[in-house]
Amino acid sequence: MDNIHPIFERMQGREDKERQLGQRGLTIWFTGLSGSGKSTLAIALERRLSERGILCRILDGDNVRTGINRGLGFSDEHRRENIRRIAEVCRLFIDTGVVVLASFVSPNESLRAMARDIIGEQDFVEVYVSTSFEECCRRDVKGLYQKALRGEIADFTGVTSAYEPPTSPLLSIDTEGRSIEECVEEIERVVINKITL
Ligand code: ADX
Repeated sequence: MDNIHPIFERMQGREDKERQLGQRGLTIWFTGLSGSGKSTLAIALERRLSERGILCRILDGDNVRTGINRGLGFSDEHRRENIRRIAEVCRLFIDTGVVVLASFVSPNESLRAMARDIIGEQDFVEVYVSTSFEECCRRDVKGLYQKALRGEIADFTGVTSAYEPPTSPLLSIDTEGRSIEECVEEIERVVINKITL
């Protein structure tokens, strides 16, 4: 069974994929409190990048926790496994040349360091959506803060579980009082040269 992977059957590599797509694979990792605007920014950024012909993939709680990570909760152990699997999925997309917009609370430095390690320093940029706890509570888009403050949700980030802000994100964005477009333009300006070939 020698030579089971002869050269002509070699799987296409990352560079082949990137050349085909005309872009570089990258993960833009959004971290911040629930309701801070991570997914909203990711969706708006995806639209802008798509207009430039850049292929993106959004990963967020809605599409990950209902599928590949169904069954994981919010204990430290489960959040760790959540982020570990997500980072491995990011890697696969990056190896396909895709730009991943990953939007997860990822509440502490050690979780984000693990994601950075799995994904690779070169392919990981961190955007801290720093919208304050007070503003997230005021918005309470999903009604979860009210419930958590009434004691109805265990380990709720910002209420009964800590959020540790990143120490050196590529960018910090406070969405309070700013338009989505304005925030997304700022992110695009900072990441675009990491995506274009
Ligand atoms: S993470 O901490 O493991 O990164 P993730 O981003 O996947 O969290 O999921 C967070 C989303 O799940 C929140 O935006 C919120 O809608 C929901 N959620 C439900 N329970 C909790 C909880 N205990 N803490 C934080 N978010 C929760």
